[in-house]
Amino acid sequence: MKKRIIHIVLSFTTLTATAAPPTALQCEQLINPQGIDTRHPRLSWQLSADGNGIRQTAWQLLVASTPELLAKDKGDCWTSPKTTSDQSRMIAYAGIPLKSGHTYYWKVHIWSAGVSDGGTPLAFDTWSAPAQWSMGLLDPRDWKAKWIGYDSSFSWDSVSKFSRLSARYFRKEFKQPGPIKRATLYIAGLGHYIVSINGQPVGDQVLAEPPTDYTRNVKYNTYDVTTVCKTGENAIGVTLGNGRFFTMRPKYKPQKIKEFGFPKLLLQLDIEDDKGRHQLITGNNSWRFTADGPIRTNNEYDGEEYDATKEFAGWTNAGFDDSRWLKPQYVSSPGGRLTAQMNEPIRVMSTINPVSIHALQIASISTGDHPTPPTTWILDMGQNMAGWLQLKANGQRGEKITLRFAETLKPDGDLYTANLRDAKVTDSYTLKGGGEEVWHPVFVFHGFRFVAITGYPGAPKINDFEGQVVYDDLPAIGQIETSDTLLNHIIRNAGWGINANYKGMPIDCPQRNERMPWLGDRATGSLGESYLFGNGNFYAKWLDDIEESQKPSGSIPDVAPAYWNYYSDNMTWPGTYILVADMLYNQFGDLRPIQKHYASMQRWLHYMSAKYEHDGILTKDKYGDWCVPPESLQLIHSKDSLRNTDGTLIATAYYYHLLTLMQKFAGLLHQPDTFAKHAAVAKNTFNKRFLETGHYSNNSVTANLLPLCFGITPQNERTAIIRQLVQKIAANDNHISTGVIGTQWLMRGLTEFGHADLATQLATNKDYPSWGYMADQGATTIWELWNGNTADPAMNSQNHIMLLGDLLTWCFEDLAGIAPAEPGFKAIRMNPVFPRQLNYVSASYDCPYGVIKSSWRRNGGIINWDITIPPNAKAILNGKTTVGSGTYHYTLLQDSSLKKNATAKQTK
Ligand code: BGC
Repeated sequence: MKKRIIHIVLSFTTLTATAAPPTALQCEQLINPQGIDTRHPRLSWQLSADGNGIRQTAWQLLVASTPELLAKDKGDCWTSPKTTSDQSRMIAYAGIPLKSGHTYYWKVHIWSAGVSDGGTPLAFDTWSAPAQWSMGLLDPRDWKAKWIGYDSSFSWDSVSKFSRLSARYFRKEFKQPGPIKRATLYIAGLGHYIVSINGQPVGDQVLAEPPTDYTRNVKYNTYDVTTVCKTGENAIGVTLGNGRFFTMRPKYKPQKIKEFGFPKLLLQLDIEDDKGRHQLITGNNSWRFTADGPIRTNNEYDGEEYDATKEFAGWTNAGFDDSRWLKPQYVSSPGGRLTAQMNEPIRVMSTINPVSIHALQIASISTGDHPTPPTTWILDMGQNMAGWLQLKANGQRGEKITLRFAETLKPDGDLYTANLRDAKVTDSYTLKGGGEEVWHPVFVFHGFRFVAITGYPGAPKINDFEGQVVYDDLPAIGQIETSDTLLNHIIRNAGWGINANYKGMPIDCPQRNERMPWLGDRATGSLGESYLFGNGNFYAKWLDDIEESQKPSGSIPDVAPAYWNYYSDNMTWPGTYILVADMLYNQFGDLRPIQKHYASMQRWLHYMSAKYEHDGILTKDKYGDWCVPPESLQLIHSKDSLRNTDGTLIATAYYYHLLTLMQKFAGLLHQPDTFAKHAAVAKNTFNKRFLETGHYSNNSVTANLLPLCFGITPQNERTAIIRQLVQKIAANDNHISTGVIGTQWLMRGLTEFGHADLATQLATNKDYPSWGYMADQGATTIWELWNGNTADPAMNSQNHIMLLGDLLTWCFEDLAGIAPAEPGFKAIRMNPVFPRQLNYVSASYDCPYGVIKSSWRRNGGIINWDITIPPNAKAILNGKTTVGSGTYHYTLLQDSSLKKNATAKQTK
């Protein structure tokens, strides 16, 4: 390909600079968080001045114990010195020791500089508005409450493979003698809890708390409940659901499925009166409980059954007669240490209205001598989603509505449930009668597009139903649109697939009897996701889950938390531990996960190399290039099963790559580099073993791609291997032949090697196998398999995201040209490609410094490019020109063949 010079011709637009206070104040990447347990929380803000080249020159932080002191500029907890620095992210609190249960108030004073419209230097200083955080319980001794619960089932429950365990309702009344200054609730309710005080729900989170390996770590939440508690009589009510604690499939494959026991509760309510006296309400056996309530069963795979005739009105208010309720038991602690939830809660994030409803006509059952079966109504949400269905109904007491969920329909119009395996995915609601009733489940979620409704009183109307989309409340931070409508459709499907699979941990799918946090699915997926969702805290929590699943030997499982016991020892799934830590550093500038997990990562690598490395070759693999299109499978070694790429090649390439990341981490942490020599041996032996004339191993796309992307290929062989790679794809009619592993590097790799047009071809293909094929077949999410419309139902989820590979990353980094050049986008690498198939791309990305924009549009032989760089960041355009914050317009002259790393020349 001919080397090209892009002429960047035009001017840049400047805006008048005005000093505005810093915004987006965050503590531990959360806005005004309650109940954190970090002793040196990190504070961040964004600058918000207009103008060009705005950068912070100094900062000063004030942290006070009361809002009044802060208002008087008195930082009694911490008054930092004025610090000459452009750092505006994650500055660690360094004041007096923080105390359990206290609230802290803070603000920041910043000094910044830039240039005005006319190029006049500007300098200004401003204070932010106040922000706050509160501390949780920092010392285990701060917990005065005891775990309560009831360690057996009831006659209406069944503890079997398909467990049916009713929800448990706990209540306590108490009297508060004097006026309340502040009331704070600390709660851990396993598996899930809902809490109300005086009839009012506390918080708007759902499916709280996030799942962990409860024997290692139990999350608790803190709520300010000052306004719901009152002087006089009060009542508190907690409902406990099963979640992952009382597992969905107990008494079944105990060697595989981890069980934790019956639901349990730890609760402490601290009420401070106007004289500073504290009353502590704690969970103990003076509480009352029952399991004979409306939620008859709740099982994440099988659904929730609710009988409204069993409701007990007013039970979370004072004065309710609980004399027939039982005394809870003191139960053992689940074992894990108590830590504050430091990631965003799960919420109902949006609602969708169904697009159609009709009565199901099935000839075979509606004819003959049989009585007419009850009408089944098929509701179509128009979107494969994860969450639940809210219904409205008006009927007789005792009438029961049943809802069954599925992703697709069979040709006869009924639900297609074969791909759900043995998940029953059925909710039911029994009416209490007497008016309109509105209901949705609370302790389960379903992955579905279609719902089969039976037993509905009368004929349901479409607006009797609402889909409530449930996932972690992560900010939506990225948008991208291109001139290719199919690609836009794929990106939209990706967004739905990602949100569906965020459930306090990243799960593989939301519908069948699995829903497991498989590591390999997120190895680079987590990076692509970070361009759509602010997933920094979410994945930091998951790295803790992974660490907690590590065995003393160093082995890391393929599923973490290890609800399924899969310690199969391979590089590609557990290696996600290291890749995600790197992602958090690059995307969010968060070094802490690397600091926190470095030792465990190192232990894992040592374990793997001691056990499975021979002269640089990593001999153990498990999944190969998982889920390649089936026709790409071949026999590589006669003794193996069908694969598309040699597992030893994959394992060794990943081993090398992970070693290089550990080298980087060692450098960041000023640790000795113990990895370089292993990496050198691995690289050398890899090439000796797998490099053949002009290609690697069996010449699959993945076999050639990995060594190229990881820098294993000798310089003098690169051109030949790239040629082979491209030819292999061409021989496959320019279609994809990679699985979960190859697809993680494919799009970025091809683009980096000068083949952005080919990458774009793969991204916009409409026929099999491709992402576009899925969309063209009606998918509204991403399938588990390239042939998801014809594959074996046992492994055929319609809502897996692992095959996205690096598609989203490529869209943002290469098509839009928005990539971090320094951690957290302090410097932005803006180097878009302009593939011939696309006429425009427009993206915005809310990075830690503010919103980055990049839009280009082809106009004849010219490209018009508009970019916005947030304050206190800079951008490096096409590897050459550095610009500070501001909004700029460029015109790029180009001929038809454009090379990615072409030299850019800017003239004002
Ligand atoms: C899961 C995948 C996972 C794979 C590995 C599948 O059942 O759905 O997401 O990575 O198993 O074996």
